Amino acid sequence: MKSLTIQGAKILATGSAVPHVVLNNDQISQIVQTSDEWIFNRTGIKERRLLTGSNQSVADLAVIASMKALDKISMDPSEIDLIILATSSPNDLFGTASQIQSSIGAFNAVAFDLTAACSGFVLGLVTASQFLKNGSYSNILVIGADVLSKWIDWSDRSTCILFGDAAGAAILQSCSKDDNSILNFQLNTDGQYANHLSIPYKERVNSHPVLKLHQGSFNYISMNGKEVYKFAVSQVPLSILQCLNSLNMSVNDIDWLLLHQANERILKAVAEKLSIHSNKIISNLSKYGNTSAASIPLALDEALKENKISDNDIIVIAGFGAGLTWGTVIVRWKSF
Ligand code: UT7
Repeated sequence: MKSLTIQGAKILATGSAVPHVVLNNDQISQIVQTSDEWIFNRTGIKERRLLTGSNQSVADLAVIASMKALDKISMDPSEIDLIILATSSPNDLFGTASQIQSSIGAFNAVAFDLTAACSGFVLGLVTASQFLKNGSYSNILVIGADVLSKWIDWSDRSTCILFGDAAGAAILQSCSKDDNSILNFQLNTDGQYANHLSIPYKERVNSHPVLKLHQGSFNYISMNGKEVYKFAVSQVPLSILQCLNSLNMSVNDIDWLLLHQANERILKAVAEKLSIHSNKIISNLSKYGNTSAASIPLALDEALKENKISDNDIIVIAGFGAGLTWGTVIVRWKSF
């Protein structure tokens, strides 16, 4: 989709946070019947981080990631106009973003949650860039954070090996059209396949006999891994190509491919389909597994820390996951 750009949007700073507790593949092999060899060969994952300890939630990780991003540019939190928290594991179904607003002291900011699973950060970036480009807001904090360890059935080896907990944050600012770095986006949803990956709500029958109400609670993550794999490998390259085409760009213009960190084989298959050399793939999932909405900002933050990304590099960012949702954002990196 073409965005109507009145002014530009740029990414000023990033930050990230992971819990201290590491669970490696050998340790997980003591919980379910699996092995380091199987997990690494099928996914590229070696270890993941878990948020343990009582009363720890996605908000704690999100606050640390946000403060790191703010500190990098010495921005006073009161300058933030909007906070978008992309998460599927809030500690309050009414929303967690407002807790973050208060914890970091961003008292002038409107704050809301955005639920789009592993595509959440991409949708958050696109949403933020619309508010910036149309002049509504000047500074926006976009956070991708998830603690899916709280929603995993730790006896299900087909899912428990994949996920880890983390948060990543980015501060976006409005700018002149010439400095615009969010070049284009392309987003999709196909609800027909929502049941391939979900945390379903399950009702108890007649839980209130007088009112005849059907109340319930959420189940664990349920996933059809094979179908999600096929969907990602077939649809993500198409989304990237469509986004490049509408900018009159080609795959040769790509400096970095930053995909949602779900499975190393998915990253490689998408790159291969697009004939992108594997040394352009940004990957850190061996250390963290699939951290859902956090995976893209966490990998971006690490790549920046490692000085991989240079001024004017083209980064193709693509997210995909439950919904099913998927989409691409093309960024021309500008250092500030
Ligand atoms: O953010 C998006 C989230 N989801 C994804 O990205 C998931 C995408 N899908 C995947 O990454 C892969 O489908 C998985 C890694 C989840 C699974 O890999 P696969 O190559 O599709 O394996 P499979 O499900 O076809 O299972 C192959 C075999 C089965 O045994 P049989 O039926 O061949 O005897 C499974 O029971 O591997 C078995 N298996 C395991 N064995 C050891 C499944 N999980 C495990 C395990 N350890 N953890």
